[in-house]
Amino acid sequence: MTDRIAPDDAGIARAAGMLLAGELVAFPTETVYGLGADATNPNAVAAIYAAKERPDFNPLIVHVSDQWAAEALIDLPPNGRALAAAFWPGPLTIVAPIKQGTGVADGVTAGLLTLAVRVPANRVAKELLHLVGRPVAAPSANPSGGVSPTTAAHVRDGLGGRIAAVLDGGPCTVGLESTIIGFGDGQPILLRPGGLEVEEIRARTGITVLPRLGDDITAPGQMASHYAPNVSLRLDAEAPGEGELWLGFGPDPEGAEGHSLSPSGDLKEAAARLFASLRRLDAEAGPEGRIAVAPIPEFGLGRAINDRLRRAAAPREL
Ligand code: TXA
Ligand code: MG
Repeated sequence: MTDRIAPDDAGIARAAGMLLAGELVAFPTETVYGLGADATNPNAVAAIYAAKERPDFNPLIVHVSDQWAAEALIDLPPNGRALAAAFWPGPLTIVAPIKQGTGVADGVTAGLLTLAVRVPANRVAKELLHLVGRPVAAPSANPSGGVSPTTAAHVRDGLGGRIAAVLDGGPCTVGLESTIIGFGDGQPILLRPGGLEVEEIRARTGITVLPRLGDDITAPGQMASHYAPNVSLRLDAEAPGEGELWLGFGPDPEGAEGHSLSPSGDLKEAAARLFASLRRLDAEAGPEGRIAVAPIPEFGLGRAINDRLRRAAAPREL
């Protein structure tokens, strides 16, 4: 049984107690729901990998309540500090060298010398992390390779029966996973486009985030086939063809009304709706189904939306 816990004081306190007792509890963040475990408890961390059937070489992000708690775990280069100060709490994950003696279980980093850290802005997540008072490891709360959950119902669809509880904070407002930034020679590098736009980083801090060069898989979440619905996707389509369902952006083509991620062409709205739409279309289309997807502009949140769509469309690797 996976309990649904209400996001009130009593519920959040109960969820915190369960995490401290070593149980797995999914919780909302502004990006997507995370599958939480006490990051200092090796058994709890191992249980995350088991529940998700996640390959054991794919490291986890830890969540903490503020920048100071983050800096107790990782050594931030100067522009990492600037990013943290400007965008935490928020949809940003920073990867930096892990300090000695943090107590974070080895399974979290999967053997890497770096640790991914995030300070979420969602009210329920903040209260939960404050009460737990320890780093909470949390990958997206979906079976490995699947589409990330943006509601508690999505979490239960994928992991119901495998985890103790889901703290139901309603739909996630951003709807795409966090932007992940690492460093090479002190230069910020975009490891995963996400809910924080590189344009906004530039505008607010003057920091230019460099693209990741080549295809070195420093993180297996960067593998091509991910976010995999069962259906096949045809990207950059003008209109649905014979037998195809439609996932639009901007005004719908004739005969495919009511299926736009954002009729007005707003990327923020489209991002918030993307994963729920993929799930719905996946269910509607059935195993042999096909979805045609409208072009999405390649800037701002469009980069992250296109990244997820390309992965969803890629041939399966596993
Ligand atoms: O928005 C988010 O980031 C959500 C919420 C729950 O915080 N979490 C999330 O976690 O998307 P996950 O595990 O689904 O994706 C995290 C990605 C993975 O691709 C993983 O390989 C990468 O972060 N990662 C984790 N630690 C890393 C590290 N030390 N170096 C490089 N990549 C790392
Ligand atoms: Mg994930």
